[in-house]
Amino acid sequence: MNQAGEMEQSYRNLIDSISPGILVLDHQGNVQYCNKVAQEIFGRTSNQIIGTNFGLAAERDRTFEIDILRHSGEIGTGELKEIEIAWFGEKAVLVIIEDITLRKIIEKEREEHLQSLKMESIGRLAGGVAHEFNNQLTVIIGNMDLILSETKESDSLYDALMDVRKAAERSANLTRQLLAYSRKQIVSPCAINLNNLIINTIKLVGRLIGENITIRTEFIEEDIKAVFDPGMFEQILMNLILNARDAMPEGGNITIEMLKMTLGENECANFHESKPGEYVAVRVSDTGMGMNHETVAHLFESFFTTKGIVKGTGLGLATVYGMIRQNNGYIGVKSAEGGGTSFTVLLTQAEGADFSAKDAGTTEKNKPFKSCARIILIEDETQVLKITEAYLRKLGFRVESFDSGKKALDAFIKDQNRFDVLITDVLMPGINGKEVADEMKKRCPGLKVLFTSGYTGNVLAEKGLSINKSNFLLKPFTPEALSKKLSVLLKNGD
Ligand SMILES: Nc1ncnc2c1ncn2[C@@H]1O[C@H](COP(=O)(O)OP(=O)(O)OP(=O)(O)O)[C@@H](O)[C@H]1O
Ligand SMILES: [Mg+2]
Repeated sequence: MNQAGEMEQSYRNLIDSISPGILVLDHQGNVQYCNKVAQEIFGRTSNQIIGTNFGLAAERDRTFEIDILRHSGEIGTGELKEIEIAWFGEKAVLVIIEDITLRKIIEKEREEHLQSLKMESIGRLAGGVAHEFNNQLTVIIGNMDLILSETKESDSLYDALMDVRKAAERSANLTRQLLAYSRKQIVSPCAINLNNLIINTIKLVGRLIGENITIRTEFIEEDIKAVFDPGMFEQILMNLILNARDAMPEGGNITIEMLKMTLGENECANFHESKPGEYVAVRVSDTGMGMNHETVAHLFESFFTTKGIVKGTGLGLATVYGMIRQNNGYIGVKSAEGGGTSFTVLLTQAEGADFSAKDAGTTEKNKPFKSCARIILIEDETQVLKITEAYLRKLGFRVESFDSGKKALDAFIKDQNRFDVLITDVLMPGINGKEVADEMKKRCPGLKVLFTSGYTGNVLAEKGLSINKSNFLLKPFTPEALSKKLSVLLKNGD
């Protein structure tokens, strides 16, 4: 080999041994040269690459990303830089390709970690605010109910009072949405029969959907069960249907499908935080106005709405997202501007489990349950204590109230068999509700217990105070909710 040949070989070895892939393209985009790493990235030999036109070199001096075939056989991400050069006296383009798959994965994990930290702190804030707020709402709703029950519909102030009552109810819903969003609600997943639940929810929202919108269902087979909280599933479906309605002011079709879906590594990209596997999918599609990229990118963020603050809170889909993740499900969306939207919810299929939950959509409005059972009531917030006592007396109960666990325990110990039910706030200064209940149950095992709190069960559990959902009532509660809980408790609970 002469000196020039040796020189060329040395340069080739040099270029082959550096880590980015290198291609040289002529002015038509045909590959004139490629180094070893480029051959590995494209999974082809130099003979297969040289002369090929990859459709690159459309522009000069730009950087962009493409899919690449990695050593392992999986698809990864490559970053390409194009630089204009001279090659044997002709204009050409040097393409530098780097495998950035790993960097992308690390960036994604970092973003997800930051997102979960953000959720955690919002959750803590929402939990704290909701607690205070729920106490105040209990007082407002309770007193309004008392005033309304004494006010005739013909009274000039009746409508104004009703408006206050409705506004308080809406505020209570908002705290519930916030708690759901921050994933602090109690979840009771069980095997739910999807067909029944979907059909019941459609009946429920039917009134809210205009006549110019039709809802169709397509079920792959009857009797599919998934593991999910039935109340939450119903709320998710309602939120999706109402969004679809809002996207079709001129009318259109909503289709609710149920199908089985296998998620591979590639499809996981369409469902945030998802893992490959077998799922039951519930898809809600509409023929509405669709969304642009910008909207899709912010869809699940809390308070993101395009409907204006009067019409939308922007908590609908944020709540949906929170509830789905709490039940180990995933959600994905496809939308085209002017071409409709479809949301797909992935649920875990229940294997051979029994349908143990009551259909959430079929709960009847119970008549108030009346009883003359004796109740010992503990609540440190005087206003809440007063209103709860008033509710209970209206239902016929005989009530003794205390504003601290200590005072209640002292009175209880003097005459242990005087009471049938203990109703107590959980978090109170001094001795807490759980400790009071344990102490009383030790002395009187037949005593029924109902806990109330402005904190949800999950938050209480985090504070080491786990409470069974059937013995728990979240503030603010209505007289009906209290009466229903007590009727169940007195019939069969402990
Ligand atoms: N089916 C859909 N078609 C078109 N756009 C949608 C659809 N679903 C959601 N969106 C868009 O996503 C935004 C956020 O939805 P989200 O349900 O979170 O809040 P909202 O409906 O605006 O308010 P809220 O549900 O609290 O009343 C909507 O404002 C709308 O722009
Ligand atoms: Mg909505």
